[in-house]
Amino acid sequence: MKAGLNDGVYPPIVANFPHILHGGDYNPDQWLKQKDTIWKEDMRLARLAGINSLSVGIFAWTALESAEGEYHFEWLDEVMDMLAKNGIVAVLATPSGARPAWMSQRYPEVLRVNRKRTRNLHGARHNHCLSSPVYREKVRLINTKLAERYKDHPALGVWHISNEYGGECHCPLCQERFREYLKKKYGSIEALNEAWWTGFWSHTYTDWSQVESPSPIGEESTHGLNLDWMRFTTEQFRDFYLWEIAPLRQFTPKIPCTTNLMGTYPGIDYFRLAEVLDIASWDSYPQWTGTAEDIALGVEFSFRHDLTRSLKKRPFMLMESSPSATNWRPVTKLHRPNVHMLQSMQALAHGSDTVQYFQFRKGRGSSEKFHGAVVDHEGTENTRVFADVKAVGERLRGLDGLVGAATPSRAAIIYDWNVRWILDDIKGLLQAKHGYEKTVIEHYSCFWQMGIPVDIIDSKQSLEGYDLVVAPMLYMIRDGVAEAIETFVKKGGTFVATYITGYTDENDLCFTGGFPGPLKEILGIWCEEIDSLYPRDRNSINWKNKKYEVYDFCELIHSRGAEVPASYGSDFYSGRPALTVNSYGKGKAWFIAARTGLDFLQDFYRDRAKDCGLKPALDTVLPRGVTAQIRSTGKKDYIFVMNFSPEKQNVDAGNLGKKTLEAYETWIIERQENS
Ligand code: GLA
Ligand code: ZN
Repeated sequence: MKAGLNDGVYPPIVANFPHILHGGDYNPDQWLKQKDTIWKEDMRLARLAGINSLSVGIFAWTALESAEGEYHFEWLDEVMDMLAKNGIVAVLATPSGARPAWMSQRYPEVLRVNRKRTRNLHGARHNHCLSSPVYREKVRLINTKLAERYKDHPALGVWHISNEYGGECHCPLCQERFREYLKKKYGSIEALNEAWWTGFWSHTYTDWSQVESPSPIGEESTHGLNLDWMRFTTEQFRDFYLWEIAPLRQFTPKIPCTTNLMGTYPGIDYFRLAEVLDIASWDSYPQWTGTAEDIALGVEFSFRHDLTRSLKKRPFMLMESSPSATNWRPVTKLHRPNVHMLQSMQALAHGSDTVQYFQFRKGRGSSEKFHGAVVDHEGTENTRVFADVKAVGERLRGLDGLVGAATPSRAAIIYDWNVRWILDDIKGLLQAKHGYEKTVIEHYSCFWQMGIPVDIIDSKQSLEGYDLVVAPMLYMIRDGVAEAIETFVKKGGTFVATYITGYTDENDLCFTGGFPGPLKEILGIWCEEIDSLYPRDRNSINWKNKKYEVYDFCELIHSRGAEVPASYGSDFYSGRPALTVNSYGKGKAWFIAARTGLDFLQDFYRDRAKDCGLKPALDTVLPRGVTAQIRSTGKKDYIFVMNFSPEKQNVDAGNLGKKTLEAYETWIIERQENS
């Protein structure tokens, strides 16, 4: 295998613990009264299941501080000691994901205010204002106590900051911070007016104090405002995260910190947040169906794993997954045989060094009592799900060698939160039905089916080291991005762009002088208009003597030097360019002008992979629904051959062997380099 961008071996997530972590969310605080029986049994069952890590304290604030300043760490001391005794790593959480009632009651400013400007009541979780000085101080205090107390504890392995950061707050304190953010960014109200194009509908601001966050009872049509609000919200979480980890860094500078992300959750630009994480981690909940639909679902979740890995370009943590039913899905279908193993191996295949669950033991009450868990209400190891978990534990024991292995990807696909936000907001172009994420995943799926590893990056990430960069629907060209693409192509890279590319700049102001703005020259084209089609409409493109249907979007482009290998088949733009390629410097820049089906994309990317010399994990054509993903230590490759279809599939891996994979089966091939 060709040397990759990030070839080699990364240190294990937990220092001196060179094993894949296996475990998950553990809530002994919900069983304080039964601790003598339940906790003991938990440890027996954990050992039996091959569990070596448990996440504790995630929502334990009231158990730790029952009234203001009244701390109770004895129970957590006992839990930490018990974990250490059983050889289990503690993924120790800061408890800010949910808050004690006494705090909301005494300090209502800690409660969030929603878009309509009403303050929430106490309850739920993630329901706190990130600007509130009171909330910040309370978090600082409890985090400091935790860090001070457990800094030398042998069980402490990873800090789990809060839980699934998300949402937003529109209270007066947040409005003030938002204005401060804007002042710093724009310097003058005139510059803000210009960036937000506020002459429109007389929305010009004459004083900073007039600026308010977006609201359905106020301003929601100023796209620049909406965009900056999302960026500000991201900064709020980033800043809050840094606030949370400050005391942890002080007492435990060597313990890595992470916060569990949610894949492509739209509310936070994870690329920006990830800059301050030591390790990326995420919670993955595919809703498996037991039908051929699981193939597309497999692709989607592979994409999210790859995205999470690409945030830090090193092994990540699968922080949560369900060993069985996911209670908040509309249908809580059980995992079919092999599925639990498959979803666990899938995470490893894409770069996770952990398999963790929500949850270890099912609680008896409240809204997650029917969520899948390692230990069911029945309480013993004699369940199908327990056996599934145990089987994963056994397999992981044999995979110590995988710890830290890199993903040797030479191709990258761009997925950018800024583009997502602005397309979600757009008026025109099929409105909210733009299908940005779906489109990115469709392009991704071609690589998945070929078994070619890819990184998922945002438009600001470095392009260095890649041979192929694909940027579906790169509507917004942020500052510096066109230059980076230019350098990349000039040096010999292959770049692929599509319809809806290069319409606006960093502030969502349309480029004048023709789309795709600063990419016109690189792509050698000019896009004059775009046709949005009704769902029943079809056009076609003819390429290499084959006709492919196109739908949704047809961009009407002119070549300005690019070759035109394919053109439209019908309508008033019949015969006009639909696919172009421009030689630029030592590289090539492709433009796909219309939304095609997978048939076209698969044929197209098979050619690009060949031109770019991208090597698949296995040198074979994989049956539909089967992928092969590679991780490599440089000396040894681990090839995960995974069947996401509910049917048997035959895989011929040449001199590495042949195998009939059962429905949902995973085959791991270990290959020595140069063998
Ligand atoms: C999320 C949360 C967990 C739990 C699970 C249930 O991922 O982080 O606390 O609610 O969902 O699927
Ligand atoms: Zn607030």
